[in-house]
Amino acid sequence: MSNIILTGDRPTGRLHIGHYVGSLRRRVELQNSGEYDKIYIMIADAQALTDNVDNPEKVRQNIIEVALDYVSAGLDPAKSTLFIQSQISELTELTFYYMNLVTVSRLQRNPTVKNEIQLRNFEASIPVGFFTYPISQAADITFCKANVVPVGEDQLPMIEQTKEIVHKFNSIYAPENPVLVDPKALIPEAEACKRLPGTDGKAKMSKSLGNCIYLADSADEVRTKIMSMYTDPLHLQVSDPGHLEGNTVFTYLDAFARDEHFERYCSDYANLDEMKAHYTKGGLGDVKVKKFLNNIIQEELEPIRERRAAYEKDIPEIYNILKRGSDAAREVAAQTLSEVKQAMKIDYFEDIELIRAQSERYKGF
Ligand code: TRP
Repeated sequence: MSNIILTGDRPTGRLHIGHYVGSLRRRVELQNSGEYDKIYIMIADAQALTDNVDNPEKVRQNIIEVALDYVSAGLDPAKSTLFIQSQISELTELTFYYMNLVTVSRLQRNPTVKNEIQLRNFEASIPVGFFTYPISQAADITFCKANVVPVGEDQLPMIEQTKEIVHKFNSIYAPENPVLVDPKALIPEAEACKRLPGTDGKAKMSKSLGNCIYLADSADEVRTKIMSMYTDPLHLQVSDPGHLEGNTVFTYLDAFARDEHFERYCSDYANLDEMKAHYTKGGLGDVKVKKFLNNIIQEELEPIRERRAAYEKDIPEIYNILKRGSDAAREVAAQTLSEVKQAMKIDYFEDIELIRAQSERYKGF
């Protein structure tokens, strides 16, 4: 069986370091591991429109932002197919057929959708397109027969629903010769990477809260944001014992720091555990820890920023990359759709046996 990756993001804003540690960094590693036959990275504009119905311009403007973030982070168009969801019309067709395999109550139980309905005040009236986006996400994952889906933890319920759709489809329409492939989610192992908090210590990075560090931020912007990060409100004097729980700077260190960083930027400690021990005992100031974090994040973001500056010089080429990727994805989607229709027996004009049998039936008249 081939090893195929599909994943993607909604183009509703620039990508931040929460996206980076949650999934983007991993995608680049997987891409460069050489273990995958195909890698599809999708800009989910159609999904973004399900909850931005009155703001299509926002979605349109952010396609290039996300694409620039992708290539800057190291997704290489020579190795990964980067494409735009709405350009693959086969996806909507697959979605339509998958809808028959999912119940309303099952959709209502999806915890991510539930949460989003609350966040967007959709309780009183939920747009149908939004409500059913997990089904369209199953189409995204299955059109290319992806078996691996690297995503953030919040996407697990979507993969779960996709698996159910795959099983149901195969057992009804293709019990002998399964057409769709069962996907597996890949989520970050480290707790800190699963849900990187905002710089203000709030649960999640979000544009509306203004607590994000973006991949495209300048070095100065990053430094300012790090130096004003939320730490431990009880840690007033350097000599006071500090607390790690809910301390955003240490959560970020959990996500970013490696032992080699201590050698380079803070040789007082051999590793993060030693630094944490000193902090909790008292005697280690927040400013020193923040400067250390700043060094590490700058080191990680600098090459991304440099690549972005280079790519920004040729925007038409980015659109070309997306066009080529979309053409390639579309070919694969057309193939899967034709297998799906054949399995569902709605491939009338290709079904010579059907036409023959029907004409037999009418011969007697
Ligand atoms: N739901 C994802 C997000 O909000 C985006 C997405 C759409 C996706 N289709 C996908 C992710 C398929 C993984 C696989 O970021």
